Amino acid sequence: MPMSPPSPSSPPSPPHEQSGARSPAADGSEINMAKGARLFRTRCGLCHTVTPGCNKSGPSLWQGYAYTPAMKSSKVLWSEDTMAEFLRSPKRYIPGNKMVFQGFQRDSDIRDVVAYVKAESERKKLF
Ligand code: HEC
Repeated sequence: MPMSPPSPSSPPSPPHEQSGARSPAADGSEINMAKGARLFRTRCGLCHTVTPGCNKSGPSLWQGYAYTPAMKSSKVLWSEDTMAEFLRSPKRYIPGNKMVFQGFQRDSDIRDVVAYVKAESERKKLF
């Protein structure tokens, strides 16, 4: 009896996907809002809130804040596209800004966080 090939019925799940992420296609094409919320909490939440007027060391993403001249003069209109570019590499997108975040490597991370921020801002009708 030759060796039978391993059954394809149960592919190993990627190590970075733990409980809390509900979508099975976390690295596929589906937006994963739970993951976006978790990423925002863990990667952005140190410095940002999604609460209007509540500035930490970074601005509440919805209110006035003492931006660096680099940030002010960038005149970026935030949209899903510009925020995605910014989050890929904040330093390269707006040189001289003071946001200490090295940028996301994975497209799916960017997409999920941007989707979360957008959903929050629409829910609060502040954009
Ligand atoms: C270490 C603190 C820190 C972290 C972590 C951080 N930010 Fe920031 N962020 C800042 C600061 C400070 C600024 C203002 C930069 C300036 O004025 O030069 C900023 C600016 C921004 C802006 C521009 C806001 C505006 O109104 O123009 C966006 C959007 C933003 N951050 C999103 C994010 C997201 C999303 C994450 C998580 C992936 C994140 N940031 C992580 C500190 C941080």
